[in-house]
Amino acid sequence: MQLSHDSKLKDVVLNHPATAVVLEKAGLDYCCGGKQTLGEACMQAGMPPEELLARLQEAAGADSPEKQNWAAAPLGALASYIVEKHHGYVREALPRITAHLEKVAEKHGERHPELFKIRQDFDLVSREMTQHMQKEEMILFPFIQQMSDAVESGAGLYAPFFGSVQQPVAMMMQEHDTAGGLVNEMNSLSGGYVAPADGCTTYELVYRELAEFDHDLRTHVHLENNILFPRAVELEQKLTYR
Ligand SMILES: [Fe+2]
Ligand SMILES: [Fe+2]
Repeated sequence: MQLSHDSKLKDVVLNHPATAVVLEKAGLDYCCGGKQTLGEACMQAGMPPEELLARLQEAAGADSPEKQNWAAAPLGALASYIVEKHHGYVREALPRITAHLEKVAEKHGERHPELFKIRQDFDLVSREMTQHMQKEEMILFPFIQQMSDAVESGAGLYAPFFGSVQQPVAMMMQEHDTAGGLVNEMNSLSGGYVAPADGCTTYELVYRELAEFDHDLRTHVHLENNILFPRAVELEQKLTYR
């Protein structure tokens, strides 16, 4: 969707969930006042539309998938890409989705009790992923970079405290299964993230956000399980630890 002065606030958020935060920060109501266009809302709020449009485009652009062949790229570059693109997205999305789920569960939970379970699952996945990404960023990914540097320079490498890279890799893959299981459950509880006819814009928004989160997690896990991790295990075979 192309963003312009004539875009309705509601459509902006529904097509590009990452823009919700920008509108919230600007104090523009995309929920009950969502039928307003960007131009109208800016005029009312007394802010220049160009500036807001630029910020919205930046946020919307961040969720368009980048195509790159990672099977041959340097491993350090792939790890950095995952951290910047996927860990960055997860960190940005967790508080945003949590707040929206809270609001929707409170307002519609009585009529749609599955919202309480979805909120609980999301809370779990949120805690799991926060710790999981920290482990990757502090232990596994820096070690992959070290292996990569050692192979390139021909210099030796001290054996890591975890023995072999296969250890943290197996652990991370197990954690991916846990997070994936929770996401699958949210997916089926929400009937594939389809909001009911009696839901408000935030209800529909949070389901789109969850669908986006679901999609991002699958891409993220695919890059790690199917490309980064097997290549790291293969790279280790070329090394002799000191
Ligand atoms: Fe990750
Ligand atoms: Fe991971």
